[in-house]
Amino acid sequence: GKVAVVMGGSSSEREVSLMSGAGVLAALQSRGVDAHQFDPSEKPLSALKDEGFERAFLILHGPGGEDGTIQGALDFMGLPYTGCGVMASAIGMDKLRTKLLWRALGLPIPAFELLDEHSDFAAVEAQLGLPLFVKPATEGSSIGVIKVKEAGELKAAFEEARKYDRLVLAEQFIGGGEYTAPIMGDAVNGYTVLPMIKIEPATEFYDYQAKYFRDDTVYRCPCGIAPAQEAEIAELVKQAFWAIGGQSWARVDFLMDELGNPYLLEVNTAPGMTSHSLFPMGAKAAGLSYEDIVLRILDTTLS
Ligand code: DAL
Ligand code: MG
Repeated sequence: GKVAVVMGGSSSEREVSLMSGAGVLAALQSRGVDAHQFDPSEKPLSALKDEGFERAFLILHGPGGEDGTIQGALDFMGLPYTGCGVMASAIGMDKLRTKLLWRALGLPIPAFELLDEHSDFAAVEAQLGLPLFVKPATEGSSIGVIKVKEAGELKAAFEEARKYDRLVLAEQFIGGGEYTAPIMGDAVNGYTVLPMIKIEPATEFYDYQAKYFRDDTVYRCPCGIAPAQEAEIAELVKQAFWAIGGQSWARVDFLMDELGNPYLLEVNTAPGMTSHSLFPMGAKAAGLSYEDIVLRILDTTLS
């Protein structure tokens, strides 16, 4: 049947979604799937039914597409879709709630503080140490993320991040490297973690430019973690995804400290699928081409 590649949307990650969606659309078409682009910022979602679509490949990033809202509408319409359902999408989009859940389960996360205009910024700088990261809770692609390096800069960083979201977090810096783990599956059939990737940005951190446009970001897959430890971290990644109620596919980002301890950062429930993106890189290391993995993700709409 007809498959809608739902892409674009109106979040600040729209451009990324258009890049991801173009790749997904071409991959599906190259494998003979009757796939078509569908941008919900251009037509009402009900057009999916009117135009005879039978399944949706959701590749919207950010609020309004990755946060459970579209997922709920599609559930209501009875249209199967790729990716997480309402709850996991909503929790995954919110870094604060993700952290609270993981902390409650005893999973390792960096120390953090929720900031507001009444925060004692100097005290937070002292408590978390410098540098530290300031992040809007519900953005993606590092949009609005600021690395605070000097004492006294936290307040200005908060005010900048506050433009993107009402909820702003300050997060402890963990300096042993930045990693990500692509994951597929569900709680009933079990989860599979694909090969992990180490990211070595040439910039101060893995920001928007480093993610999509710079050619000097180094990606390591195999990631250099000893196989026995990578297997342990894979179990942690499965627990982290299970905790939010995850299914289908996602990417769990984490950091390592200098001693080799992992710290979970977040789940991306509609991971980037651009030419620079990490999920297809992990799949490739597992012997799956971009087209193979896109078809596997589409197949999750059947279970
Ligand atoms: N939020 C971007 C698309 C990612 O995690 O890949
Ligand atoms: Mg993210």
